[in-house]
Amino acid sequence: MSRYNPVMGTGVAEFRRRLLRWFDECARDLPWRQTRDPYAIWVSEAMLQQTRAAVVVEYYQRFLQKFPDLASLARADEAEVLAAWSGLGYYRRARALHESARAVMAEYKGQIPGTAAELNRLPGVGVYTAAAVASIAFGEAVAAVDGNVERVLTRYLGHEPVPGAARSGQLRQEAMRLVDPEHPGDFNQAMMELGATVCLPKGPLCLTCPVRDGCKTRGEHAVAPARKMRSRKTALALLQRKEWPKSEVLLEQRPADAAQMPGMWELPQVKDGQENAGSILLTVRHAITNTNYYVTVYGLDAGERDRLVRSVGDRMWIPLLELHERPLTGLTRKILKRLKVMPGYSGSGPAAVIGETVRNAEKEFESAVFGN
Ligand code: ADE
Repeated sequence: MSRYNPVMGTGVAEFRRRLLRWFDECARDLPWRQTRDPYAIWVSEAMLQQTRAAVVVEYYQRFLQKFPDLASLARADEAEVLAAWSGLGYYRRARALHESARAVMAEYKGQIPGTAAELNRLPGVGVYTAAAVASIAFGEAVAAVDGNVERVLTRYLGHEPVPGAARSGQLRQEAMRLVDPEHPGDFNQAMMELGATVCLPKGPLCLTCPVRDGCKTRGEHAVAPARKMRSRKTALALLQRKEWPKSEVLLEQRPADAAQMPGMWELPQVKDGQENAGSILLTVRHAITNTNYYVTVYGLDAGERDRLVRSVGDRMWIPLLELHERPLTGLTRKILKRLKVMPGYSGSGPAAVIGETVRNAEKEFESAVFGN
């Protein structure tokens, strides 16, 4: 059978060869590429869903220091796991990883299963993560198709963009045909790398693309026009007290049965005109899909402050030195850093990075503040 494929433009073997050579020469040196440990690779893939690699690096290293193996993660309390994840957003990923670690200890005697099909049966391990871990850690010839890979394939094949699920199924089939059976882990990571560093959503760097010759698009593909932005407002309170020798901040814990981020800590909301009694400390804007949210953070006067502290809800004075151990929402962490209540706001930390993590924090914020 001819290896030339008219749809692909270039032969499949040539596509693999060029892509893998480029990956060898140009791939970023990322810490999860230095290991074959399935647990570490799994942690990286859980973090890399919806978050950029540059942001994940620091969280990945800290998480593995705290939970160096599956058993230590399985033994941990959920709050500890969420605290280590705090700032990455989409906490469902952390809960699922934790739950799956416990399932692997209980059902697989602590050995992470080696096929995508088995991995996919673990709680919260989706088709993408299962394929990524199976191919990278165990060498299974299965394609891992995330948003970056979808974009690369859509452009390379010159597909008309079709809505969500239909396109994903079709592209996964194409990816299964392309995946290199000898080096599936490198192949998948090379596709992701191409999407993340060359075949960018806006302004792709086609002149440096290793598979440019066979590409049907060579540039941006048509996407649905951006929706018009809406605006919404909300108000939060930052209350601090000094209980010598500690400084403390008032936080509120989200209900254990909340649909979004249960059990996580955030600044109390200011309601019913309380804001008139305080001074503005900070205003933060969050753009979430088609909405700009304007969050005003108030410092309240003594009377309003007493009212807020006494009023119902799971509020607690938390020592500043313990903040890093608490699972804080991303918005809370961002505000505390900006106001220098917590160390570390440099303007380039995760909450300030332009890209996926901002969206994570914003998603989280949206549900935390507006309950949707
Ligand atoms: N995105 C998802 N998985 C990745 C990986 N292994 N390397 C880089 N980006 C990724």
